[in-house]
Amino acid sequence: MEPILKIEDLHKSFGRLEVLKGIDLTVNKGETIVLIGSSGSGKSTLLRCVNFLELPSQGCIYLKGILQGTEKSMKSGKTNRVYHESQLCKVRTQVGMVFQHFNLFPHMKVLENVMEGPKTVLRISQKEAEQRALQYLEKVGLADKSQSYPARLSGGQQQRVAIARALAMEPDIMLFDEATSALDPELVGEVLLAIKELRDEGMTMIIVTHEIGFAYSVADKILFLHHGKIHEAGTPDEVLVRPKEQRTKEFLAGHNQFQIPQHSE
Ligand SMILES: Nc1ncnc2c1ncn2[C@@H]1O[C@H](COP(=O)(O)OP(=O)(O)OP(=O)(O)O)[C@@H](O)[C@H]1O
Ligand SMILES: [Mg+2]
Repeated sequence: MEPILKIEDLHKSFGRLEVLKGIDLTVNKGETIVLIGSSGSGKSTLLRCVNFLELPSQGCIYLKGILQGTEKSMKSGKTNRVYHESQLCKVRTQVGMVFQHFNLFPHMKVLENVMEGPKTVLRISQKEAEQRALQYLEKVGLADKSQSYPARLSGGQQQRVAIARALAMEPDIMLFDEATSALDPELVGEVLLAIKELRDEGMTMIIVTHEIGFAYSVADKILFLHHGKIHEAGTPDEVLVRPKEQRTKEFLAGHNQFQIPQHSE
């Protein structure tokens, strides 16, 4: 198994508030990890640390075996990791992220939105960027919208463009932070389907979602985050159907739209 991402003892504090309290996680190539947990448990912070939108306060993050940041000795005798912007720019090309709010450039056509990163960050040619953008728009079923402006698209279509935009950077891992939470219910399915197809094609992913039924069907492994720690982890059956921990049970009880699958065993 080839680890794409390895996190060791990750801590993140904002001032005196310690949000992540020692996270250990390995994501192997082609694996889909789903992160669930109550509001404020640190899910977004964890994803944001993985692509260094937030800098870890402590701990190590390895991407494809490479430990990120440089160790620096402090006057106190302790060592700290420091992160240089040039390194982080490279990392961000390896880690694709899709947020709740899609933030497409409103003044650019769909095709241009998807071409922008490969052109300006990866510096590939206009022609190649265009081919690549079309290829990924096709993947999310929106090649026919390439010449539209985002405002002319539904929320679900816009979110699929945002997915294509992240894919066009050809990242090693994709992170989804509640990618369907801002959508009208009837538009959720098409975005979940696009994510499911990525999984079937072997994309490595970490997904934060409140859609427990989706989590069950897509995850290789579920992590339940509680108060900044991984409180329970396992297969979808272990965590969602037969949770051991009281907190997990309480959390799932609050998501009663999830029908526990019937098992013949
Ligand atoms: N930049 C920041 N500065 C200060 N506090 C922050 C910052 N970002 C997050 N927090 C705090 O960290 C805690 C965890 O937030 P986070 O957004 O990671 O939770 P979450 O699990 O994603 O919640 P939700 O389900 O509501 O999205 C919260 O108490 C939040 O207020
Ligand atoms: Mg969040």
